[in-house]
Amino acid sequence: MSDRHIAVIVLAAGLGTRMKSAKPKVMHPLAGRPMVRHLLETVEQLEPEKIVCVIGEDMDGVRETVAPVPCVIQKERLGTGHAVLAAEKTLAGFSGDILILYGDSPLISFETLSALKTARAAGHAVAVLGFDAEEPGAYGRLIMNASDTLEAIIEAKDATPEQAAISFCNSGVMMADSEVLWKLLNRVGNDNAKGEYYLTDIVALARADGLTCAAVEGDEYELVGINDRVELALAETLVQAHLRMRAMVGGATLTDPETVYFSYDTKIGQDVVIGPHVVFGPGVTIEDNVEIRAYSHIEAAHVKPGAIIGPFARLRPGADIGPDVHIGNFVEVKNAVIEEGAKANHLAYIGDARVGAGANIGAGTITCNYDGYFKTHTDIGAGAFIGSNTALVAPVKIGDGASIGAGSVITKDVAADSLALERSEQKELAGAAKKIRERKAAKKAKSKN
Ligand code: UD1
Ligand code: MG
Repeated sequence: MSDRHIAVIVLAAGLGTRMKSAKPKVMHPLAGRPMVRHLLETVEQLEPEKIVCVIGEDMDGVRETVAPVPCVIQKERLGTGHAVLAAEKTLAGFSGDILILYGDSPLISFETLSALKTARAAGHAVAVLGFDAEEPGAYGRLIMNASDTLEAIIEAKDATPEQAAISFCNSGVMMADSEVLWKLLNRVGNDNAKGEYYLTDIVALARADGLTCAAVEGDEYELVGINDRVELALAETLVQAHLRMRAMVGGATLTDPETVYFSYDTKIGQDVVIGPHVVFGPGVTIEDNVEIRAYSHIEAAHVKPGAIIGPFARLRPGADIGPDVHIGNFVEVKNAVIEEGAKANHLAYIGDARVGAGANIGAGTITCNYDGYFKTHTDIGAGAFIGSNTALVAPVKIGDGASIGAGSVITKDVAADSLALERSEQKELAGAAKKIRERKAAKKAKSKN
């Protein structure tokens, strides 16, 4: 039975009122990507034959985010049972097990889903994932019978005081045989405290038909639902803990793990050392033997082996940092290739540029890449030396081995091995400083009398 086909329905039609947001709830990000995508990635490991998302009207953003997974629209929110029925047509012709998940409970693991699959395969018509809640509150209560199978799910609002005292709660995740599911769901009514069509009612209906149902216990942390920004922050903590663990297990040293923030897709090699308070946005690859020092912020960048980044460095999208490059404090790199062994150790902006191998970028160097209308490119040759406080007004090309004197504003290309200086000549008036000092001091003394 374990090789039965699986179809998945993700319920995501909820408005997420408690988020107080213009954005649908399932679009709020965890580790840099919409929570519903986290869920879909886990679900895909089950290799389901089909996945369908149930969304509300005006949720085109969700539709685009989950694509190519198809979406069906639940026009009126008449309850979880009604929402699942919205997917019935799309799954017509599918025969096997149907797994129902909530888009706002994205932390469920593949292992937990597998446990549910095993319970279903044991012959129970419906298998429900439960958890022992510290605060059962509004959760549906799982009513077990003498043979330790599931008898019914009672919503908190409909529970008697005895039922309300049960702490074994419904996570909302369940798996049922497709034929049984559609048959039972079409019999679910809405005569209850909320006037909704409850998905949970299929358990009692299955029992009435003489079928058995199972409850599988999962970890409360995995099943946490995200309804407001406080729960969103809690979920982020859990995801970050997982990502930090993944980096460390993969061979990276995190000096102070709890202060490092990863993106879901951060790729970290071996023998990478990451200092405190480093933040990764999406799309980052860090190769082996890289050191990222404290307080660096890195997004959509690629860092090659042996490079040293930071402290206080900022790598923005398109930063391509070559082997053994040094990017130091208060240096920002955007859409630029920094070739092997080049150094920009302090206070610089390198945008829309190439910096050749071994070049040295002095403190205060700025590639002036934007004139208010267009962005243009700066090309710095291998072994070039750019003196401190140089403005390179793009488009401009500095040849291999060229040197730029400090404080220059470079607007024209510089040939290989040339020295370019752009400053007025230095004047020196011998003794003038002393004269001024004495005159001013005398004036000040006089004014005090
Ligand atoms: C539901 C369960 C409850 C369980 C709890 C776990 C029912 C009747 N109750 O309650 O037993 O303990 O989840 O969190 O199922 N949705 C739709 N369309 C609807 C209604 C809901 O798509 O018409 C979606 C929501 O977007 C959400 C999910 O279904 O993702 C759950 O809906 P919600 O209203 O939060 O159900 P609860 O009252 O929390
Ligand atoms: Mg809920």
